[in-house]
Amino acid sequence: MSTTVRDLRKWKSEGTRFTMLTAYDYTTARWLERAAIPVLLVGDSLGGTMLGYPDTLSVTMDDMIRHASAVVRGAPGALVVGDMPFMSYHAGAEDAIRNAGRFLQEARVQAVKMEGGGRVIDYTGRLTAMGIPVMGHLGLTPTFVNQLGGFRVQGRSDEGAEQILADARALQDAGAFAVVLEGVPSALGKRVTEALNIPTIGIGAGPDCDGQVLVIQDLLGLNPDHVAKFVRQYAQLGEEIAAAARRFSDDVRSGAFPSPEHEYASR
Ligand code: KIV
Repeated sequence: MSTTVRDLRKWKSEGTRFTMLTAYDYTTARWLERAAIPVLLVGDSLGGTMLGYPDTLSVTMDDMIRHASAVVRGAPGALVVGDMPFMSYHAGAEDAIRNAGRFLQEARVQAVKMEGGGRVIDYTGRLTAMGIPVMGHLGLTPTFVNQLGGFRVQGRSDEGAEQILADARALQDAGAFAVVLEGVPSALGKRVTEALNIPTIGIGAGPDCDGQVLVIQDLLGLNPDHVAKFVRQYAQLGEEIAAAARRFSDDVRSGAFPSPEHEYASR
């Protein structure tokens, strides 16, 4: 049985905390399924982690569909959420419906995520009315990087905090099944979590959110350039990869690999 949006609602009502991780490929999704991670987000963060872009703005729906379908194949037991990339819903409700529909039909994800309040609240209502579950995303929303003037903590002013709280309530009323809170003060994370009946999933939003999400490369220590304040690295796989590749290189140069057990006999 795979995780569903109903499970998340139940966990919220029971006070059961849960995890979400990003995943972008089949192999990683298989390992995360083994680890019983209930929710996998195919984030547009794949622009940086998979494709090497400086931000998420160049990511297309075709990129997202390809990666999301691989994740769905790798983790049939997880609730897989497809992240709607920049310009996939910005021009209007028709785009939002068409592209969210592509996610469900072509990639077979069970839900989509959209960043922001404003018109996104209306789109959330329309999509949920059509049977497409929506996860909201408020606070430091990376596709708004140019509008926000950089990757900055949001909701520090009273006005900013009230806006995020109001948007979270409006998303809930429109039918969102969960809201990601990114890069907001812990006190605001707590306030929003207490105000909602649907779960909040925090990333840099403090310990009181109902769930926590991290980008898988951050958790595994695969991002050598920058470790954000909200990240805990649970492994140093980047160093492991480099060391394994170096050992392979050394063995080939010295003739230690391949050795007889790796060879095929003539007959
Ligand atoms: O794209 C992404 O990975 C995200 C998470 C950081 C929530 O939106």
